[in-house]
Amino acid sequence: MDTYVVSGGNVLEGELVVQGSKNSALPIIASTILTGTTVILYNCPNISDTINLQNILRLLGNKITYENHKLVVDSSSCDINEIPANLMKEMRSSIILMGAILARTGRVVVSYPGGCEIGTRPIDLHLYGLQKLGANIIENHGYIICEASRLKGSEISLDFPSVGATENIMLAATLADGVTIIRNAAREPEIVELQNFLNLCGANIKGAGTSTVKIKGVPKLHEADYTVKSDRIVAGTYLCAAAMNKGKLCLKNVVIDNIWSIIHKLQETGCECRIINNDEIYIKAPKKLKAVKMIKTLPYPGFPTDMQSQMVTMLSIASGTSIVIENIFENRYKYIPELTKMGAEITIEGKAAIVKGVDKLNGATVEARELRGGASLVLAGLAADGYTKIEGTKYIERGYEDFTENLKRIGAKIDKE
Ligand code: EPZ
Repeated sequence: MDTYVVSGGNVLEGELVVQGSKNSALPIIASTILTGTTVILYNCPNISDTINLQNILRLLGNKITYENHKLVVDSSSCDINEIPANLMKEMRSSIILMGAILARTGRVVVSYPGGCEIGTRPIDLHLYGLQKLGANIIENHGYIICEASRLKGSEISLDFPSVGATENIMLAATLADGVTIIRNAAREPEIVELQNFLNLCGANIKGAGTSTVKIKGVPKLHEADYTVKSDRIVAGTYLCAAAMNKGKLCLKNVVIDNIWSIIHKLQETGCECRIINNDEIYIKAPKKLKAVKMIKTLPYPGFPTDMQSQMVTMLSIASGTSIVIENIFENRYKYIPELTKMGAEITIEGKAAIVKGVDKLNGATVEARELRGGASLVLAGLAADGYTKIEGTKYIERGYEDFTENLKRIGAKIDKE
């Protein structure tokens, strides 16, 4: 298993440019097949999730080139509508292709993407939305067959503001007959980016970023060029790394408006955060971090679940006890036993993690099992005494581009073996 080896205790100083957003790029890449022509995406992050999605698009008949963060998709010959089960398992977020393939070809066959290390990850809201748009859905032997000769606009209320379900419905409704209204839609910045991209291609979507998204179906889309905005979770991860390591870090290419909930929690721990222009942030860590009273993960604009493990890890060396409540995924504390091996004192009670800050962490051999928890173990290693080995780098490389190179650039001692 590929491993990162980290020698802890170095102060992190310098500046980094934040990569393009994984969770914006994935649905936008999926949506390119709606156009039936050529689309160019700039600042598309070079991470295994986007590479895997490109490979699935190639399998579906699309012509793809990707170089220096520039992705070109020619979907004129996208005529296959079945995603192989092994690829669905490998990357569950390819479920986002359902709405686009259905809208483009009138049929889509996928297997259940299955759960992952952070939860069961059901797709009932995705299927409910597609059914409301007129899809006939048959499920058997783990496969889902969706068919619709013509998708028709509908009013859809989501029981939960699911990001993926909102995106899938937006994609299926873009070329449907009539108007679709999604109520209790997810409000994440990635939804706004998807709307902006689709409208650039000639779609007619309004309301992204609010709980009500209105999609007026259009007959067809046309080509477009789009630059993916930067990744708010990767930005938050580097900010936490600096906060834990007496850092002085300047992050460039940041969408400040997308990370206020993270900035405010960092300030509560005693970090000085200064906004430079509207796309740069400077963080200076205190000598000793302070505990925070409470962090609750919530749908946007609440505190993001994807930053939960990084914050818990940072608070594990703060002075005092912090309480973190994970409200979005039912199994997102799997990294905590690994942190405990390094000396962290964290108890889990239901949805809550009670984090009793310790003086320092000690290096150990730990295992990454999912993306954000894995990145958090690297952060722990950077702050720990001695050496830490983080096994399972493939999880981390799903979402962090040039992770070790970037950390080295700001003073970390980390290598891959
Ligand atoms: C997206 O996942 C992100 N992934 C996740 O980021 C992120 O944690 C999540 O949104 C929440 O912000 C991508 O964008 C590729 P959801 P998604 O549907 O769409 C329940 C990362 O680390 N639910 O908003 O799968 C679900 O079980 C990843 O980058 C249903 O019950 O998230 C969960 O409890 C991890 N039925 C909650 O909603 C459904 O049909 C939130 O899920 C769908 C979801």
